[in-house]
Amino acid sequence: MYHTKIAGVGHYVPENIITNQDLEKHMDTTDAWITERTGIKERRFFTEGKDTTALMGVKAAKLAIQRSGINKDEIDFIIFATLSPDFYFPGSGVIVQDQLGLPNIGALDIRNQCSGFIYGLSIADQFIKTGMYKNILLIGSETQSNFIELSDRHRNMAVIFGDGAGAVVLSRTDQTNIGILSTHLHAEGKYAEELINYHPGTRNKIRITPEMLTDGSILPYMNGNMVFKHAVVRFEEVIREALDANQLTPKDIDLLIPHQANLRISQFIQKKFAFPDEKVFNNIQQYGNTTAASIPIALSEAWEQGLITPGKLICLAAFGSGFTWGSALVKC
Ligand code: COA
Repeated sequence: MYHTKIAGVGHYVPENIITNQDLEKHMDTTDAWITERTGIKERRFFTEGKDTTALMGVKAAKLAIQRSGINKDEIDFIIFATLSPDFYFPGSGVIVQDQLGLPNIGALDIRNQCSGFIYGLSIADQFIKTGMYKNILLIGSETQSNFIELSDRHRNMAVIFGDGAGAVVLSRTDQTNIGILSTHLHAEGKYAEELINYHPGTRNKIRITPEMLTDGSILPYMNGNMVFKHAVVRFEEVIREALDANQLTPKDIDLLIPHQANLRISQFIQKKFAFPDEKVFNNIQQYGNTTAASIPIALSEAWEQGLITPGKLICLAAFGSGFTWGSALVKC
């Protein structure tokens, strides 16, 4: 059986920086509240007419392909993870396929929210292990600033989410001691409505009504406390599951890259495993929660900072809407 290595990483974030002070002008919030509860200082918002979820993904992908050293025409398949596609349908993966000029290769969109990148990694790993594909482009990209409302009634979500994209090229390797060691995926659908965007869904005959706009039910809903409580448990569990599956211990991990949900969640996990600061990568302070894009953006930045070098053991873990959660162990 083949193995899957991360051959290249890249990211793109929109240039428009929105600070906590900017948000203070739109809603009853403060830099102190946001910083204390989430760790976030600023986030990026897309520019209409310039960035879209797919186009940001393309920019991240071009960098990942360039850094991978392969030619773009060697890519066999695209997986696109997002909860904020350009269109209700088709998915954003096909736009990437067209924009990159990749002839007729398959493009799969997956909707697993904050766990989307880990789910995508696992799908890609299976395709590569079985020999079906050699090089897969996996993108996580989100445009979330256009469905949060900068208002008092939506302030619990408005201060958290941001826009951006990250991408990786995953390639077949014959080396048995490097690459993705394992992936672990979970879901608990009974909590689907604790972090949800109901509309425009298919439960109603009329999918968007003026009332939904007025009463705010068009906006995503998050039960922040509930998400927090489940996240800290599931993150720990799924990291331990990955370590146990590979007969490894927390000490073996060189770098943990958690989904950037909330700095307090990352710090909680760090404490559980007694990791020193340098073993946990966080950039939520600059980008907020970019959902499916957060792990690949963090991976790309960690790589740029020289933190991902041959021989290092990287642990990726995520939790989010669904609830869904997952982890991956990667030997560089
Ligand atoms: N600014 C100021 N006050 C705010 C606010 C904001 N942006 N958002 C909410 N509040 C207020 C609430 O209205 C509430 O006021 P009240 O006590 O008068 O009713 C108070 O702050 C406390 O709200 P609560 O929701 O209990 O705060 P919290 O300590 O749980 O923090 C979150 C809120 C969202 C930061 C926190 O629950 C969290 O981080 N949850 C996880 C979210 C997450 O990770 N989501 C992504 C999943 S991938």
